[in-house]
Amino acid sequence: MLERDLIYSDINAFISRQASKDTLRFITCGSVDDGKSTLIGRLLYESKMIFDDHLAALEKDSSKFGTQGTNIDFALLVDGLTAEREQGITIDVAYRFFTTDKRKFIVADTPGHEHYTRNMATGVSTASLAIIIIDARKGILEQTKRHAFLASLFGVEQIVLAVNKLDLVDYSENIFNKIVSDFDIIQKQHLFFTHVKAIPISALKGDNITELSDKTPWYNGPTLIAWLETIETKPISDRALRLPIQYVIRPNLDYRGYAGRVASGSVFPGQKVKILPSGINTSIKEITTMEGPIEKSAEGSSVLVTLKDNVDASRGDMIVDSKEPPEVSDQFRATIIWMNEQKMIPSRSYIMKIEGGFANLVISKPRYKVNVNNYERLPADVLELNDVGSCNIALDRNIPFDPYNENRTTGSFILIDRETYATVGAGLIEYALRRASNIHWQELEISKQSRSEIKSQVPCVLWFTGLSGAGKSTIANIVEKKLHANLRHTMLLDGDNIRHGLSRDLGFTDHDRVENIRRIMEVSKLMAEAGLITLVSFISPFAAERDAARKALVEGEFIEIYVKASLKEAEKRDVKGLYTKARSGQLKNFTGIDSPYEEPKHPEIIVDTEKASAKECSEIILSYLSEKGYV
Ligand code: ADX
Repeated sequence: MLERDLIYSDINAFISRQASKDTLRFITCGSVDDGKSTLIGRLLYESKMIFDDHLAALEKDSSKFGTQGTNIDFALLVDGLTAEREQGITIDVAYRFFTTDKRKFIVADTPGHEHYTRNMATGVSTASLAIIIIDARKGILEQTKRHAFLASLFGVEQIVLAVNKLDLVDYSENIFNKIVSDFDIIQKQHLFFTHVKAIPISALKGDNITELSDKTPWYNGPTLIAWLETIETKPISDRALRLPIQYVIRPNLDYRGYAGRVASGSVFPGQKVKILPSGINTSIKEITTMEGPIEKSAEGSSVLVTLKDNVDASRGDMIVDSKEPPEVSDQFRATIIWMNEQKMIPSRSYIMKIEGGFANLVISKPRYKVNVNNYERLPADVLELNDVGSCNIALDRNIPFDPYNENRTTGSFILIDRETYATVGAGLIEYALRRASNIHWQELEISKQSRSEIKSQVPCVLWFTGLSGAGKSTIANIVEKKLHANLRHTMLLDGDNIRHGLSRDLGFTDHDRVENIRRIMEVSKLMAEAGLITLVSFISPFAAERDAARKALVEGEFIEIYVKASLKEAEKRDVKGLYTKARSGQLKNFTGIDSPYEEPKHPEIIVDTEKASAKECSEIILSYLSEKGYV
């Protein structure tokens, strides 16, 4: 009996049959022109996973809109998505399900156009096989190379080279062989899939999909479906346990449960485990799921475990097999896939989401980026949309991890923009960089508090931001003079001055400004440690870096002062003559002219220098400090 008929006659039998079958997740790569939609439509049709009413509608639509005469146009089945996309409903990746007697299949169908890297990254990360579709008339294209490269980058080990549209080249064995040998050259030099299977097909006519075609007597099989049904995928049960803690559940003092999804391996009572990053050893006491206590839980399932000892483990920690623990580090070499229109800026701090938690991360200047069409390595200062680059990354804390090629879940992460919370990139961890992990934090005996007490003051950082010529330095100077006269211990860091020394090597590109502000943030942090009241006067045009500075300091220590003046006014003042130069094109990347200034959204203080004099502005700031108890 057909799988699908069971749905109608005996739904329980259908469900239990599905439960006992394994699942193959795969991705199809190729553009609409290559016949991707037709192939997916054909697979759904052959496995009879299209319902009768759907099929009737499809037959009707095919004769009306289809491109295939009286034949069914399978592409219409899948391309319903296109319409949704045109209406502005973005579906990046569609997952389609079908089943045969032997296996269940989940196909990730990724639109191949604009955001190909982003879409493919989403679809491929859980796939164990990729079908790369090649139009027999066109052979291997740049796009084929790009898809193959991304599949290999994301750890797909097996691929099917589906040489499609064979009907349009008279089922030529020579053409098929030529494509196979062309691909073989690339595979050997660059890709290293463990298994490549080439199958000559016509998705439209159904050749070699479920039955061997009499048009290709030179091909001995298997058919595409037979191949998908029988290929072996890596057994996952023997991998070491990785259970990131998502929640700590504490309904009362006697119970402490840890909830999370088993990222790899399995978990069972009595199992010896380690908590990372702390390294504490203990063992699993009990596992509970929605259905009650269980004896073993496998990869992918969500569980609640209790531990034998009363240890300290919290959200973001990981419970791991004590015999095969992952490494712990805060610096990595990683492959970054950039997915945002706004380019990646080295030195900027991004949020890193890893399995079970978050960290703050800074990416170094890329070591190189890869031209995904021909595999060439190119020098790069930044990464732009769809770029793939190799970078070093530094985190603000230690995390447990596995290299991506050993564990896709604990070896990958996504990058989130601090300001917009948009996903801007994805990363694959290659290995830990050890240099800095051998440097420990030295505890000092004199604390920040004692340094401040001896000066009878509360340390803080007055962060003046605004356009060039807005009046930052003038006001900061007056404020410092007043504080000094009141015997406060202060320090003023001024943009122009710092650029003569500490930041002598930096210019005014986005990257250089981000690095400049990062340095100032670090210096102000040290000044606060010294117990000083620090005045920082920099354009600091980007909200992300000001925000990072705020987060780097203790709550209440960072006082953002927006020194406001319109561009028109600043330009009119043009104290240093720089606006004139910028307008005439002699000076590039000038803030307000051809480089952006992002206004602070919630500064502690705003002083408007078009409405108040520098002296009045300084008084507003000084009264804020005394009202809030800083001085
Ligand atoms: S920031 O963007 O990195 O914060 P910073 O405050 O250090 O800038 O330096 C700004 C000072 O450098 C300005 O006051 C101005 O005198 C000078 N300068 C020279 N070139 C530029 C430029 N392209 N953009 C802005 N300021 C510039």
